[in-house]
Amino acid sequence: MSYVIAPSLLSADFSRLGEEVRNVIAAGADWIHFDVMDNHYVPNLTVGPLVCDAIRPHTTVPIDVHLMVRPVDRIIPDFAKAGANLISVHPEATDHLDRTLGLIRDSGCQAGVVFNPATPLTWLDHVMNRIDLVLIMSVNPGFGGQSFIAEALNKVSAVRQRIDAHVAKGGQPIRLEVDGGVKGSNIAAVARAGADTFVAGSAIFGQPDYRAVIEHMRSELAGAKR
Ligand code: DX5
Ligand code: ZN
Repeated sequence: MSYVIAPSLLSADFSRLGEEVRNVIAAGADWIHFDVMDNHYVPNLTVGPLVCDAIRPHTTVPIDVHLMVRPVDRIIPDFAKAGANLISVHPEATDHLDRTLGLIRDSGCQAGVVFNPATPLTWLDHVMNRIDLVLIMSVNPGFGGQSFIAEALNKVSAVRQRIDAHVAKGGQPIRLEVDGGVKGSNIAAVARAGADTFVAGSAIFGQPDYRAVIEHMRSELAGAKR
């Protein structure tokens, strides 16, 4: 699978979001990562389906919706209608993970499961055929600009083994995404651990030249050896 760089809008200028989306895609973004927070599941409040719908005309690339919302099922079809391509959920945010993953796919989107730093991977045991993405959090969710938690690399390696074993048995491809504290100086290590999809918020939107950051990340990825 090719590498995907997914800038997180959390660190963009919200007063000119459409322009930020267009600029970061022109700078080489593969996906747009869209962080939804409810001040309940996580201690912060961001944006909902209305804003997803508003940016949809500004993007030619997939919108990767990361739901940090509890309960989560009610809002999933709204994001599908608002143009989400992928929707990821935290297992702690639903009473019935299998049902929630089915709901995402039935809404026409690809489905992902998100693991907080201390969430065990056992949640994957019985849903591997129900997902298109695993998202490993390398920070505690809620805020941009936090430092990468190194233990996440061990978790990424463990998920990589599970995905490779699943695909070797004839299973569908599953992307392995990492979110939190990813930047040019650590992206190669994250790739070597087994990730193929990289969320970066402050590392990209915190710099004036988005293209320079994304190109640096790609050159680091090209040099990463697993
Ligand atoms: C955190 C969000 C992340 C965040 C990443 O809860 O899920 O997507 O925006 O921001 P950085 O890259 O700055 O850690
Ligand atoms: Zn996120």
